Amino acid sequence: MPTSKRAVVTGGANGIGQAFSKRLAAQGAKVVVADIADGAETVGAIKKTGGSAIAVRCDQTSEADVNKLRDAVERELGGCDILVHCAGIYPTAAQAHRNAGRPHRNAGLPHLR
Ligand SMILES: NC(=O)c1ccc[n+]([C@@H]2O[C@H](COP(=O)([O-])OP(=O)(O)OC[C@H]3O[C@@H](n4cnc5c(N)ncnc54)[C@H](O)[C@@H]3O)[C@@H](O)[C@H]2O)c1
Repeated sequence: MPTSKRAVVTGGANGIGQAFSKRLAAQGAKVVVADIADGAETVGAIKKTGGSAIAVRCDQTSEADVNKLRDAVERELGGCDILVHCAGIYPTAAQAHRNAGRPHRNAGLPHLR
């Protein structure tokens, strides 16, 4: 269904988040690709098909980065209608074991504030 909504996709540079970004843009949403990695590939693919997207570098574990993301979304799009939260990794048992007792930097990220 076509939409004119504004969407923020965390983890939008790769994988599931990239797929969400492309699908939302194909349906007419303005998409913010928010990722610790470079979102240029996702943005390029969206623009190539006539969609609207920008990339914002953001580490979801950093409160300062998340605040900057919020400011960028307000400034560029005037707000957010849809949040898709895909940032993170899929930790294996071995990784979880190595990180025992320490906060994992990527897995199980909290929602945007
Ligand atoms: N792929 C699966 O089968 C599967 C299954 C269950 C759950 N998940 C979960 O879905 C999410 C996405 O999985 P995926 O397969 O698309 O992974 P992916 O690695 O392809 O993409 C994850 C994206 O999140 C970004 N990211 C990682 N840490 C970040 C951070 N701190 N701040 C901002 N961005 C960050 C990465 O740069 C990457 O672009 C993960 O949380 C994963 O645990 C995936």
